[in-house]
Amino acid sequence: MAVIASIHVFINHAFAVGAYPIVTLMEYRGWKKGDGAWDELAYKVTFALFVVTTTLGALTGVGIWFSAALIAPFGIGSLLRVFFWGWFIEWIVFISEVILIMIYFLSWKRMSASGRKRAHIGIGVILSVFSWLTMAIIVGILGFMMGSGRWPETQSLFSAFFNPIYLPQLAFRTAFAMGVAGLCVWFLIFFFTSKGSGLRHGSVRYVSRWMLVWIIPFVAASVWYWKVVPAAMAANIDVALVTQRFTQWHETLAIIMFCAIGALILVAGAGALKPKLLTSILLFVPLLLGLWLLGHFERVREFVRKPYVIADYMYSNGVRVSELPVLQRDGVLTHATYVNNHTVTSGNQIGAGRDVFVVTCSRCHTTTGINSVVTKFRNLYGEQPWDKNAMGAFIHTMHTSRTFMPPFPGNDKEADALVAYLKQLQVDHEFILAAQNSWTVKPAEVTGATGGP
Ligand code: HEC
Repeated sequence: MAVIASIHVFINHAFAVGAYPIVTLMEYRGWKKGDGAWDELAYKVTFALFVVTTTLGALTGVGIWFSAALIAPFGIGSLLRVFFWGWFIEWIVFISEVILIMIYFLSWKRMSASGRKRAHIGIGVILSVFSWLTMAIIVGILGFMMGSGRWPETQSLFSAFFNPIYLPQLAFRTAFAMGVAGLCVWFLIFFFTSKGSGLRHGSVRYVSRWMLVWIIPFVAASVWYWKVVPAAMAANIDVALVTQRFTQWHETLAIIMFCAIGALILVAGAGALKPKLLTSILLFVPLLLGLWLLGHFERVREFVRKPYVIADYMYSNGVRVSELPVLQRDGVLTHATYVNNHTVTSGNQIGAGRDVFVVTCSRCHTTTGINSVVTKFRNLYGEQPWDKNAMGAFIHTMHTSRTFMPPFPGNDKEADALVAYLKQLQVDHEFILAAQNSWTVKPAEVTGATGGP
């Protein structure tokens, strides 16, 4: 899902929201100056945008919600209920955007030949507005997940949409999109112009200037955005930037991010003053940096929200804040839909524990894969058999000691069952590790006369 989302965000921000205004401006410039070469270049860049946005862009855009709905149906369900009309409008705008992209690209030659250039540029302007609008609507939903504002009292779509994070995040994304689009158009220019040509230098300079224009809005919007991030979320930043294991690195990473942004600004400055200096490598590296920064910002945004999927309303494991006391009293399995055991008995501890794990931990942990719960406990308690009581105590207080994890939403019996299951996982895992070690025995041992393991 992270891969789908990162690809989509990059395409949406760099190839659509930011890039359509640039090509529309380039088309306008070519028309005003009567420069056919500029028009041709803008057309070719638009061809690349057209192919990428209508295929991978549209697919990943649908893919995000498809995969999110599979992973967290409860979260998406709640968002759908709150934002029903918002989303309805979003789909209309999104489909209009795709249609406009097709019209803009496919009618380019015909409208230019028949002298309807002004109208064609008008389509480019409308397309630019629609690309931005799809983002402007979705940011309402993204902001809501970080801060629901007055919605808990009013329960209205209006206060959900215009949450306290909305405008700052929209400003941030707008400036960011415009900037990274410059990176992507720079890169495309290199495919469509020849080395040392006046067209290449002129267009690189033009796009570099465009990027420089957005620096101040970008910095201002970043500060504004950071200021509205709720304090509890801002406190997650060190685990959000890297993983817990590398928290001592987070300052280094923050410095690297600042340097990356600085490097982008430098390259843009060089491009504006001396476009000759920019070689294809110099343009490829910024593109990768931009991609990485955008992906990392999304990672941080997703992470700082923990333990919530929707701020103050629903935890990442799908438990609503308001239903927590009931689940802790009755047990989370009692009310769970897709589990094998609804109660814990002396005979089903491990099976019920597995159900508890699936319901309460598996949105964020795997057993032995990514963010493996076995590795996490092993880091805490070492290789010897883990202590039941220590684990129980950890589970009951996991939210207070690690605020990015939700409170355990089950009762005591379920916590015991979870511990039993986790201890079984440890035994199985040690067994597998031991078996793997014995399979990779050295030839001398295999040929030894001891009979082997
Ligand atoms: C909202 C997501 C989320 C949920 C739900 C969650 N965890 Fe975690 N947990 C994390 C993250 C993130 C970390 C830290 C990962 C890292 O950076 O190393 C973590 C760390 C841990 C650690 C290591 C703590 C430490 O300080 O070393 C343990 C143990 C753990 N989780 C157990 C559990 C158990 C058991 C459950 C279910 C009852 C659970 N978690 C549910 C997200 C979650």
